[in-house]
Amino acid sequence: MSAAPQLRCIGCSTAPAKATRDFRCPSCGDLFELTYSWASPGPIDLKNIWRFRRTSLAPIDQSGVWRFRELLPSLKTSEITLGEGNTPLYEMPACGRAAGVKHLYAKHQGMNPTGSFKDTGMTVAASFAREENFRWVACASTGNTSASMAAYAARGGMRSLVLIPEGKVSWGKLSQALDFGALTCQLQTDFDGCIRVLAELLKRWPIYLLNSVNPYRIEGQKTAAIELMEQLDWQVPDHVIVPGGNLGNSSALGKGFLEMQQLGLISALPKISIIQAEGANPLVRSIRENGGNSLTPIAAETMATAIRIGNPASWKKAVQVLRATKGTVEQVSEAEIAIAKAEIGTEGFGCEPASAVTLAGLKKLVRQGFVEKDESVVLILTGHSLKDPDFTLRFHRGDLFSDAQFPGSSNLQCSPIQLDASAEAVARILEKEGGLS
Ligand code: F0G
Repeated sequence: MSAAPQLRCIGCSTAPAKATRDFRCPSCGDLFELTYSWASPGPIDLKNIWRFRRTSLAPIDQSGVWRFRELLPSLKTSEITLGEGNTPLYEMPACGRAAGVKHLYAKHQGMNPTGSFKDTGMTVAASFAREENFRWVACASTGNTSASMAAYAARGGMRSLVLIPEGKVSWGKLSQALDFGALTCQLQTDFDGCIRVLAELLKRWPIYLLNSVNPYRIEGQKTAAIELMEQLDWQVPDHVIVPGGNLGNSSALGKGFLEMQQLGLISALPKISIIQAEGANPLVRSIRENGGNSLTPIAAETMATAIRIGNPASWKKAVQVLRATKGTVEQVSEAEIAIAKAEIGTEGFGCEPASAVTLAGLKKLVRQGFVEKDESVVLILTGHSLKDPDFTLRFHRGDLFSDAQFPGSSNLQCSPIQLDASAEAVARILEKEGGLS
C-alpha cells in the first residue's frame, strides 16, 4: 500500500539508487524529484482512510503530513513529528472585497508548529536524515527554514547548522533557531551567498542538507495541497496563489495537485500562480523575457526578507508547474506588500510580509482579467504574523510609507497611542472614536 518512490533527475531523467549529498544530479547538475509507481488504494478509499485518521490518537495520524502517508516515501524508522500540518482554511471576506473576488480563502501555513509552511517538509526530510544516521543537518536560510530545521533536529536528537544573511533575518525567526539550539552563523552575504558557502561545506563534511533542493522536503510540502482539497471537500478552486522565493513551495504544491489528478482524487487542476517582490523577481523576469527557458540570477532586495532570493534553486520545477496548471507570474511593490499585509490583518489572523505578496498579486491579476470575480481563489499564507513584528510596527507607526507616498495606507494604520494613566484620557480617545455605542 505504501508508495515506493524513485529518485529521478528533472533534467536528464537519471534515476540513481541514492542521492548525492548536494541533491544534484552528478550527470547534469539538475535537481531530483521523487516519482512513484502507485500501488495505493483507489481515490474513494484514500479519502476515507485519511478522514478516519483524523479521529486517531497516534502521533503519525495526528500529523497533517503523515496522515497522507500513502503518497509519501515510507520510513523504516519512526518519524520526527511536532503535529505539523492541520492548518486552517479561512474565508477572507474583507480581502475578497478589496481584491474584487467573491470567493477568497487563505490556507494559513503559518499556523504550523514553528509558524511557517517549512514544517510540513521538515518532518519528512529530517526523519530521513535521522534514518540515514546523520549527526548534523544544515541549511542556508532567510529565517523560516532555519527555525523549522532547528526545531525538528532538536526533536530528533540531531545537531543543526544554520547559515543566515547578517542583518536580513527577522528577530522572530533568528530567536527560534537559537532557542532550538542551532549552531547559528550570520554570514556577511545574502541568502544566495549562504547557499554557496554551504555547498563548499557539504563537499567536506558529512552533513545532511535540508534546503528545499532536498526532494524529501518537497514531498512533505505537497501535502498542504491534499489537506486543502480535503478542506474544500475535493472541489478544486480556480486559482491557488503562492509567494515565490527559492521556488520549492510552488513546486511542491504543484506536484501535490498533479499527483492527486493522476490518482483520480481530483478531476481538474487549479491555476497555480506565483508572486514575487519587484526587487526579488528572477522568475517573473525569466517568464516575461524568455518564457521560462532560462533564468538569470539577480541581486535581490526587498523588505519581505523571507523571499529576498535572487537565484532560486527550484525555478525549473516552478516553470513546469506554471505550464502544467496554466498559472502565471506577477510582481508587487514594497508598498503593495505592506498594504496587503495590513488588509490581511483586518481578517483577524495576519501573516508575515512575504505571505502578503499573494493578496497584492491577486489584486493585479483581477485587474488584468486573469482572475475573474466569480472564480474561487486560495492564497497560500506561508508565515505567521508574529514572525516579523518589526515590519508590522513600522507600518502601523507610519515609518514604512507615508500616505503621500502611498495613498490609502493611513486608513489601515493603527498606531499605539501614548496617554497619561487616567480613565479620563482613555475616555477622551474613546469619545473621539464615536463612543461605545
Ligand atoms: N514565504 C515565507 C514566509 C518563506 O519563508 C519563504 C521561503 C517563502 C515564502 C518562499 O518559499 O522559497 O519555497 O519559494 N523561505 C526560505 C527560508 C527561503 O530560508 O526560510 P519558496
